[in-house]
Amino acid sequence: MKEYVIGKVGDIPEGKGRAFQAGRATVAVFKSNGKFYAMANRCVHKGASMCDGDLTNGGTVVRCPWHNWAFDLTTGVHCYDDSEKIRTYEVKTEGDQVILTA
Ligand code: FES
Repeated sequence: MKEYVIGKVGDIPEGKGRAFQAGRATVAVFKSNGKFYAMANRCVHKGASMCDGDLTNGGTVVRCPWHNWAFDLTTGVHCYDDSEKIRTYEVKTEGDQVILTA
């Protein structure tokens, strides 16, 4: 595992996701209620880019942009079928920097 500085805090608008490259991983990073969350940028259903998903349920759930599957933003687990899960990543801020561990 390695830490990657993927951008600045202001690069990701509140309530939105953006895709970043961290080594070989493409990761969707979201800002929700002032906190950052990260998951693989590939839906486990048919591979949609999760960074384009909408945040719902008070910003705790991300819905896939293609077929609307819902995933817990913190755990990456499907909200209605816990056998489906998107890999999540640790993300933190240090000053103005957003740092992802991948
Ligand atoms: S590709 Fe995500 S729900 Fe189908």
